[in-house]
Amino acid sequence: MSFVLSAVYRCPELQAALLEEVATANEESSSCREWLARLKLAEAVKLEVSRRYLITLTMVRSARVPFVYAGHQIRAGDQLLISVGANGLMEEYFDEPEKFDPARFMGPNPVKPEPGALNPCGMGPHTCLGAALADVQVISTLALLLERADIELVNPDRPLEMKYSPYPLPKGDKLRIRVRREQ
Ligand code: HEM
Repeated sequence: MSFVLSAVYRCPELQAALLEEVATANEESSSCREWLARLKLAEAVKLEVSRRYLITLTMVRSARVPFVYAGHQIRAGDQLLISVGANGLMEEYFDEPEKFDPARFMGPNPVKPEPGALNPCGMGPHTCLGAALADVQVISTLALLLERADIELVNPDRPLEMKYSPYPLPKGDKLRIRVRREQ
């Protein structure tokens, strides 16, 4: 969520487009499910944030059998850190991977990452059990903050950088948030 806010509040055009999407969804939806389904840009922002800012850096696994990988002998029982997040920044999988561009997941030809290229919620038998809940939380929190709060970054002109503590966080970003009173 912190990367979502840091990315959105650096880009006034994106903020305006999201706000318009939320207003349309409010007007045209007759259920929560419909409302969420209309928030396509917000969903693309969430996906692009998880790709560009490596929300899930690594997964830990133990080798069941010995094998050789890229010239390295792995023994049975060795602990492996699999860098799933790195795929998101590889040109083999995404054009201009350094660029933050939610539009890549939208439109008539959205990028469809090949299996394994983008797995912010893991993969295999231990895939995140809360993935769907996390999606709803991030998208609806973003929508409600856009609508109900005045938010500004203290340093909007500085590029978004990451720090690790141990998980990735926006480096040095501070937000001023003022919640508007209901009319
Ligand atoms: C953006 C938010 C989230 C991200 C990026 C995320 C990411 C992940 C990842 C990568 C794994 C797999 C770890 C592995 O295979 O080693 C995982 C597992 C898990 N997550 Fe999440 N998660 C998120 C939110 C949540 C939420 C909201 C819940 C619960 C309400 C949740 C519950 C779990 C559980 C129970 C597992 C373990 C599944 C298992 O071992 O079988 N997660 N998560």
